[in-house]
Amino acid sequence: MIRLTREFRFFWRSGETFDRSSNSWAGSGGSLLAAPFQLLRSTVTGRVDARTGYLVNIQVLDRAMAEFCNEYVAANANGTDLLAFIRTTPNISRHLPDGIQLLESELVVTPYLSLKLVVEPAMDVLLTEQCEFSAAHRLHSNSMTAEENRDYFGKCNNPAGHGHNYVVAVTVAVPALGDVGFSLPTFEHLIKTHVVDRLDHKHLNVDVPEFAGLNPTVENIAGVIWQWLSNIELGGSLRNVRVYETPKTWADFSQPMI
Ligand code: NI
Repeated sequence: MIRLTREFRFFWRSGETFDRSSNSWAGSGGSLLAAPFQLLRSTVTGRVDARTGYLVNIQVLDRAMAEFCNEYVAANANGTDLLAFIRTTPNISRHLPDGIQLLESELVVTPYLSLKLVVEPAMDVLLTEQCEFSAAHRLHSNSMTAEENRDYFGKCNNPAGHGHNYVVAVTVAVPALGDVGFSLPTFEHLIKTHVVDRLDHKHLNVDVPEFAGLNPTVENIAGVIWQWLSNIELGGSLRNVRVYETPKTWADFSQPMI
């Protein structure tokens, strides 16, 4: 299967009329007005045209998203919430040519919050929010000798430890239809109390009981956070925990879909 994703960059302001030209590099639409900047992404599938090599012309996708946004703003002049917006994005399909199927749409609200609607195979909204914590750790395996630890983990085995600024992205699924009962402030509070407060400004090997006998690698940190969060009611079903140890290294923990 081939999938094509196009990102529509726009500013959200009342009375705005979107057109394809809204999708400039900076999403500026030719102005420097202050307004909420957002990204809307559509992922589509279909057949690649043998003559052009295109699945669909990206200008068609730009126009479809612009027209969807125009319709949405016109129908919701008094504002909306983000869940309501993302739930309506299957209507982008109305502006797509025959044979082009919308698989996913995603609204990136800020670098730290995004909502993705999985149209196929299941109508779910995947909400992802990032948080951060700073911590020290020492990579050391109790099942290896001191020399083996030094050889294998190198400078990460430094006896006094070293630190990282970790970024955690938690993804939960909420139903795309019906009363979801999801509250972002409640979700954020749960992430803070169950994750950040247990890890932030701690030495993981020393201060966090889960790592007393478990090497605090980024893989194991993701697994421990998953265990903590899987035992509480988040307002949606937990789908993924991503932990960035550095901008170049991250681990995802999830469970296979049943
Ligand atoms: Ni490290």
